[in-house]
Amino acid sequence: MIWDTHAHLDDERYRRDFAEVLARAKGSGISRILNPGYDLESSRRAVALAREYPFIWAAVGIHPHDAGGAGQATWDELVSLAQEEKVVAWGEIGLDYYRDLSPRFVQQQAFVNQIELANAAGLPIIIHNRDAHQDILRLLKQHRPEHGCVFHVYSGSWEMAKELLNLGFYLSFGGPLTYKNARQTLEVAQGVPMDRFMVETDSPYLTPEPYRSQRNEPARVVEVVKRLAEIKGLEVPEVARLALENGEALFGKACAAG
Ligand code: NI
Repeated sequence: MIWDTHAHLDDERYRRDFAEVLARAKGSGISRILNPGYDLESSRRAVALAREYPFIWAAVGIHPHDAGGAGQATWDELVSLAQEEKVVAWGEIGLDYYRDLSPRFVQQQAFVNQIELANAAGLPIIIHNRDAHQDILRLLKQHRPEHGCVFHVYSGSWEMAKELLNLGFYLSFGGPLTYKNARQTLEVAQGVPMDRFMVETDSPYLTPEPYRSQRNEPARVVEVVKRLAEIKGLEVPEVARLALENGEALFGKACAAG
């Protein structure tokens, strides 16, 4: 029973062999998948997948890369999608100063706007953060996510992680935890409390070792669970159970609906 809490199954790279990808996930013990949106189209697709498949859940939101193109019509439609039964979070949203595909002040506006929308919708948020640690922390303190928050594929320092944990947030680990140069992430995984971590793939990106050159898919989340189990000194099923329970604690609606 493993929950891949972040997989872009709506990506066109799965169109050709979608059924096989799902079959391999089921065969590897993945019982739930959360498909986040990154723009309006992908949010619609995520909701459509969640409607069709009982084990898929959705989040809706505009990624910082696409923040520039979002107008009132986009926000209105996201608000309406967020009311869908199987939408359990708002995301992925945040700041990306590494690629800077939208101007930084536009990213910040879209981020803050979506924290407010998530609060109004009663949903937790899923955060994408790349090289924007100080700004994201400042904005989160000014505009608190009222229904919780997870940093997906958390890539910051243990120092920042402690601040996030103090705010009550969750940290999610993905493929990079299995990489040899993952010193900082290793330190975070060692320190994270048992009731605050989740696991994910971020499929089709960030494939874990030893499959790193291939397209990622939910079945590979097993490698992340194994690595986390080693680091925590726990059995693999125990880590899977904790990660699933932590996911349920944050994405409560999924829990209530089975
Ligand atoms: Ni993602």
